[in-house]
Amino acid sequence: MTRPFKTLDDMGDVAGKRVLVREDLNVPMAGGAVADDTRLRATLATVGELADRGAIVLVLAHFGRPKAPGPEFSLALVTKAYEQVLGRSVRFVDWGSAEAAIAMLSPGDIALLENTRFFPGEEKNDPQVVERFASLGELYVNDAFSAAHRAHASTEGLAHLLPAFAGRAMEAELDALAKALGSPEHPVAAVVGGAKVSSKLDVLRHLVAKVDHLIIGGGMANTFLAARGVNVGKSLCEHDLAPVADEIMAAAERAGCTVHLPYDVVVATEFRSDPPTRTVNVHEVAADEMILDVGPAAVEALGDVLKNCRTLVWNGPLGAFETTPFDRATVALARIAGALTVDGGLVSVAGGGDTVAALNHAGVADQFTFVSTAGGAFLEWMEGRELPGVAALTR
Ligand code: 3PG
Repeated sequence: MTRPFKTLDDMGDVAGKRVLVREDLNVPMAGGAVADDTRLRATLATVGELADRGAIVLVLAHFGRPKAPGPEFSLALVTKAYEQVLGRSVRFVDWGSAEAAIAMLSPGDIALLENTRFFPGEEKNDPQVVERFASLGELYVNDAFSAAHRAHASTEGLAHLLPAFAGRAMEAELDALAKALGSPEHPVAAVVGGAKVSSKLDVLRHLVAKVDHLIIGGGMANTFLAARGVNVGKSLCEHDLAPVADEIMAAAERAGCTVHLPYDVVVATEFRSDPPTRTVNVHEVAADEMILDVGPAAVEALGDVLKNCRTLVWNGPLGAFETTPFDRATVALARIAGALTVDGGLVSVAGGGDTVAALNHAGVADQFTFVSTAGGAFLEWMEGRELPGVAALTR
């Protein structure tokens, strides 16, 4: 496979070379411990391979959004969990003593450098910070797709100063995304859910020109239903975006993309776990009711759509899935998509924070072809935007 970027296969002999590896270790914490180590595990392939090949591996990462350096933003908090995940020892390196500490490392050693955002110039892609980072290594690997929408010193700038390569996780991510929207097998379906249309307008605008079926769920669907004259009662709805919803529907029609909105829905008068609910046609929502999930008839019809598709891109839940029983449509459709993927008929790619949580909840994340750990970067990719961290690798 020819790729527009270099990978670890193109690095040649790295034994004894200092390799700066940008990873995304921005993991959620709870009570001082790592609450979800998915992102740590995602680095294993690249960091393990480089260490095994005798490189001196210098992991660069950000952690949180510090306004100033502080212990609560120190990657020292993550080092122990990282060692456990890697099954190797990791030397934490503070910026103050970085040069001296790195000079002590041997081939095959792994060091985790302190939060890149402790430099105010990191997020500004300040050339001085880029040079400081570059002076520590000889080669640069970017393995952090989920931070690639940031044009920061460690995610973008470095690729211009050092020979630059995509890490294994980055490579897998870019390959999967190319299969999903770059040159996918048609018919292609996209599921776009979530609360607000306003946060995904550019995603929808981009997708109507790319996919054959656009399935809209979540609170966003209410805005589209309302634009079509449906009374959505007390549902979450951005009424002022009705003209935009109309414009997206018109663009879809011009492009030959079928937009699927729910025709039956699950409603309740209060939003809490297990309240009394009704499943009704969208035209039967009462003034004091909220639409909180897609109904079973619509899910069945959507499952039939997926059965005829070769490719699926999924971002966002179909209902208020964190609150039972409004997880049902998301779980049911995710299971259909998972089964179709396992049967070999469907390439399924999903991403975005809520989406990963929803697929895990449905127990099907491992059945999908690829599940991206990226949040903002996945959305920007779905908008068709060039990600600076990726672009810098392909130059
Ligand atoms: C993420 O958590 O999505 C990435 O690590 C990027 O973090 P940021 O939004 O703070 O740049």
